[in-house]
Amino acid sequence: NIIDQLAGRDRIPAFMRMRQAAIDAGDGAAAAAPTMEQMARLYFERGGKLFRPRIAMLMASACNQEVLARGSRLSASSSAPHADPAFDAYDDISGQQAAIALIAEMIHVASLVHDDVIDEAATRRGAPSVNGYWGNKMAVLAGDFILARATQALCQIGDPRVISTMAKIIEDLVVGEFLQMSPELSPAGGEDQRSEIRDQRSTSSSSSSLDDRLSLYLQKSERKTASLFENACRSVAMLASASDGGLHGTAAAYGRHVGLAFQLVDDAIDYEAEEEDDSAAAGKPIAVDLEQGLITGPLLLAVSSEAELVRLLRASPAQIRETVRRSGACERTRELATTRARRAAEIATSLRCRNGASEALAGLALKQLERRV
Ligand code: FPP
Ligand code: MG
Ligand code: MG
Repeated sequence: NIIDQLAGRDRIPAFMRMRQAAIDAGDGAAAAAPTMEQMARLYFERGGKLFRPRIAMLMASACNQEVLARGSRLSASSSAPHADPAFDAYDDISGQQAAIALIAEMIHVASLVHDDVIDEAATRRGAPSVNGYWGNKMAVLAGDFILARATQALCQIGDPRVISTMAKIIEDLVVGEFLQMSPELSPAGGEDQRSEIRDQRSTSSSSSSLDDRLSLYLQKSERKTASLFENACRSVAMLASASDGGLHGTAAAYGRHVGLAFQLVDDAIDYEAEEEDDSAAAGKPIAVDLEQGLITGPLLLAVSSEAELVRLLRASPAQIRETVRRSGACERTRELATTRARRAAEIATSLRCRNGASEALAGLALKQLERRV
């Protein structure tokens, strides 16, 4: 059954077919640029957990069930199929809702393609990155191309509120990435930031405190990671019932809590992973954040004052990592994640749902707390 498929780590063949169709759908111009499609496909074909589309589709199903339980009819637009039959893959969610799951995944992948340019990462998941194969210029275009195809799929949904909600994700990803480069979270500064911009930004932060940094870290995480979950969940809820603002808020809150928990766990893992064993399993090197000069949750929770943080930042990455690990800050970061994941699970189980989708959502929220790589 599809809920089991979505809840676990199984392949989701109908979703994969949809995804293929979206990349292939073009006006023929891409035929003139076969490498463009090849580049755009690279990360999709490399697999991955498909965590975002799984959550979006399960939330769609749970919201549809809740709307039925309330006795209100599904909104006219939600039951409408998507213009492309490839999207009408599942019984209990509409073609438009399935399209949201796909678009969320496409936006995510586009952002990874650009992220690897910004981070100068030659590999992703242990294999060459798009920029690793084809260089930065091509990678910028490949990310834009995926985003263009995602926009086409989004416009076919035809609901301006949903289009605006999904567009907010793109804005938030950009703003989140920008916040991450602020001097409070990235003291060394992006090396290629023009010096006058760097000066402007650092002057404004000369009085930064540990609390400011923590609050900025959480804001950055909400934009860069949680927004995608939050707004994809909000969008499928809007398609379940156009007028039920309470349901939109419930679905969005679930997504926000899951997204933040996901980022917190990721940031704890960056400090926890052991050099040899885990880095191979994760397909990425460890303590990357620190090496990149980024300040994340565990580092902020390892110190009790701004002065202590400033002192610690003068140490070598290896020493900083040791201090953070010994301080118990990774455990504290995981506690914050646990609070968020439990909140998400409670929200999910409040949805009246007979097909297991809300339990699956609660399970996925709690399951990521077990992640060690
Ligand atoms: C991965 O972070 C990156 C993101 C979650 C978002 C990056 C966003 C942009 C580059 C803005 C442009 C957005 C679009 C939609 C084109 P990471 O570097 O911490 O993680 P990693 O280990 O996966 O590289
Ligand atoms: Mg990166
Ligand atoms: Mg990055």
